[in-house]
Amino acid sequence: MRNKNFALITGASEGFGKALALECAGRDMDLVLVALPGSGLANLACFIERNFEVRVLFFEHDLSKKEECIRLFEEIKQRDLKINMLINNAGMGGTHFFEERDAEYYYRQIELNVVAPTLLTHCFLQIPERNSPSYILNVGSLASFFYLPKKGVYGGTKSYLVAFSKSLRRELKSKNVYVSTVCPGGMNTTPMLILQNKNMKGMGRWSVMNPEKVAKIAINGMLGRKEVIIPGFWNRLFMFLDKLLPRWFKEILTDRSMKQSKAFTNPVTYSIQPLKPAI
Ligand SMILES: NC(=O)c1ccc[n+]([C@@H]2O[C@H](COP(=O)([O-])OP(=O)(O)OC[C@H]3O[C@@H](n4cnc5c(N)ncnc54)[C@H](OP(=O)(O)O)[C@@H]3O)[C@@H](O)[C@H]2O)c1
Repeated sequence: MRNKNFALITGASEGFGKALALECAGRDMDLVLVALPGSGLANLACFIERNFEVRVLFFEHDLSKKEECIRLFEEIKQRDLKINMLINNAGMGGTHFFEERDAEYYYRQIELNVVAPTLLTHCFLQIPERNSPSYILNVGSLASFFYLPKKGVYGGTKSYLVAFSKSLRRELKSKNVYVSTVCPGGMNTTPMLILQNKNMKGMGRWSVMNPEKVAKIAINGMLGRKEVIIPGFWNRLFMFLDKLLPRWFKEILTDRSMKQSKAFTNPVTYSIQPLKPAI
C-alpha cells in the first residue's frame, strides 16, 4: 500500500520549486504543489505522475494573501490529506536600489517571503493527525547573511526566515518536527537570472549552481535534520571568509560585485500593449 504522506511545496511551478518537486518525486514522495493560478501546475503534475510512481495534487493560490494561505490548508483538511513535509519555497527576489521600487512592491515581497511561510507553518502544525517525524524546510538565501546593497528588503526577509527557523527548530525538536533552512547562492532559475549570472565575473560566477543540484542537497539536508544547509563549495567558502575578513574589505568586495550585477529588464514588470492596427 502507498505511503499516504504528502510533501507540500510552494512555488512549485518554476525554478527551484519545480526542481524540488522533481527531486521529491524521484524519492517516491507524494506531492502537493502550490503556485499562482495559471502557472502550468496541471501540466507539471501530469508530467510527474506519468514519469514517477507518485500521486500529485495541485492548488492554485496567491500566497501573498493571508486568506489564500488559510484557504489552502482548509482545502487540505477537507480532502483529508496527510502532509508531513512543508517546503516554503515561493518567494520574490530582486536586485535594485531601494528607491527604485514602490511601496506596493515591498509590501507584496514581505507578504510572500515572510508572512506566507509563517502562516503556512502555523497551519501545518495545527494538523492534528500529522504523522511523525515531520519536516519543515524554509528556503532562505545566502543573502540572509550578507547585508548587500540592492538586496535590502529581500535580504531582510531571508534573514527573518533563518532566525524564525532556528528558533522554531528548538521549540519543536521534542515533538519530532525538524525545521531546516536552505540558503542557496545564485541559481540559474529564471531566464533573467540566467542572463544576470552569465554576466557575473570571478567567484560570483563560479558559485552559481543549477537548481536540480541544489534541490538534491536541500532534500538530503532536510531529511538529515540539518539546521542550516549551505549548498556548494563556493557558498560555504563565502560563509567562511565572512567570519575571517575585516568588514571594510568585505564591503569593497561586495560593492564591486553588486556594481557588476547588471540590471536586466524583467518582462513581468511591463504590460504588453496590443499592436495598433496599421492604418
Ligand atoms: N534563483 C536564485 O538565485 C535564488 C537564490 C537564493 C534563494 N532563492 C529562493 O528560492 C526560491 C525560488 O526562487 P526561484 O528563483 O526558483 O523563483 P521563480 O523561478 O520565480 O519561482 C518562484 C515560484 O514561486 C511562485 N510564486 C510567485 N509568487 C507567488 C505567489 N504570490 N503565490 C504563490 N506562488 C507564487 C511562482 O509561481 P508562478 O509560476 O505562478 O509565478 C514560482 O513557482 C525563492 O524563495 C527565492 O528567494 C533563489
